[in-house]
Amino acid sequence: MTAFDGKVAMVTGGSRGIGLAIARALVERGVHVAITATSDATLRAAADELRGAVRGAGVLPLRADVRQPDEIGRVMHAAVERFGGLDVLVNNAGVGVFRPVADMTLDQWRQVIDTNLTGVFSCCRAALPWLRRRGGGWIINISSLSGTNPFPDAAAYCASKAGLDAFSEALMQEVRHEGIRVACVAPGSVRTDFNGPASGDDWKLAPADVAQVVVDLIAHPARSLPSRVEIRPSKPPRKH
Ligand SMILES: NC(=O)c1ccc[n+]([C@@H]2O[C@H](COP(=O)([O-])OP(=O)(O)OC[C@H]3O[C@@H](n4cnc5c(N)ncnc54)[C@H](OP(=O)(O)O)[C@@H]3O)[C@@H](O)[C@H]2O)c1
Repeated sequence: MTAFDGKVAMVTGGSRGIGLAIARALVERGVHVAITATSDATLRAAADELRGAVRGAGVLPLRADVRQPDEIGRVMHAAVERFGGLDVLVNNAGVGVFRPVADMTLDQWRQVIDTNLTGVFSCCRAALPWLRRRGGGWIINISSLSGTNPFPDAAAYCASKAGLDAFSEALMQEVRHEGIRVACVAPGSVRTDFNGPASGDDWKLAPADVAQVVVDLIAHPARSLPSRVEIRPSKPPRKH
C-alpha cells in the first residue's frame, strides 16, 4: 500500500503547464484525478493526453473558474460523486499580468488577486469538509519564488504569491492536527506558456520537476510536514 493507492486528487489549472504535469505524475501513480480549467477544449485535450499516457486512468475534466465559488463547489461535488471522496487538492491555477503599477487597471489587479489568492481560498474552503470526511489529506499550493523575491512590473503577481505564502502557513497551522497537511511549493522559472509561448530556455525548470516535488510531498512520512518547498533551476544564466 503506497501513499497514492485509492487516492483522489483535484488539480486546478490541470489542463496545461505545471498543472498538467502534476496530474500526469498523479495518474501514473494510480491516483484518480479531476482537472479543472476555464477552457473546455484544452481541458478535453489534456484529459485525452492523460488517458493516453496511462491506460485505465481515472481522469475527470471539469470546467470551472476558480474565481467563481459556486463553480468550485459544483465541480468538487462532481469529483467526489465520481471517485467517492477527495484526498488531495492542488491549487495550481494562476495567472500573471506583468506591467508597471501606474499602467495597471483595477480589473487586471483583480484578475490576478482573484485567481491566485481568493481562488485558492475558495478551493480550500470547498475542499476542507471533504478532506475531513476522509480523516485527513493534502492541500498543496503552487506559489512562486516571486512571493519572496518581488521584481518590477509584477506587483500584482508578487503580492498574490506573497499573500498565498502567508495564507498557506496560517491554514497549515489551523488544520494540521486533523491530519490535513498543507504545503506551499515555490518554483523559480518554469518552461511553460505562462508568460507567452515557451521558448527554448533549456535552463528553466521543467513542469515535471515541480510535479516531482508534489508527489514527493504526498509520499512524505506523516510524522513530519515539509510545509514549504522552494525549487529553482540548478544552472540559470550567470548574473556575475
Ligand atoms: N511558469 C512559471 O515560470 C511559474 C513559476 C512559478 C510559479 N508558477 C505558478 O504555477 C502555476 C501554473 O503555472 P503555469 O506556468 O503552468 O501556467 P499556464 O501554463 O499558463 O497554466 C495555467 C493553468 O491555469 C488555468 N487557469 C488560469 N486561470 C484560471 C481560472 N480563473 N480558473 C481555473 N483555471 C485557470 C489555465 O487554464 P485556462 O486558461 O483554460 O483557464 C491553465 O490550465 C501558477 O499558479 C503560476 O503562478 C509558474
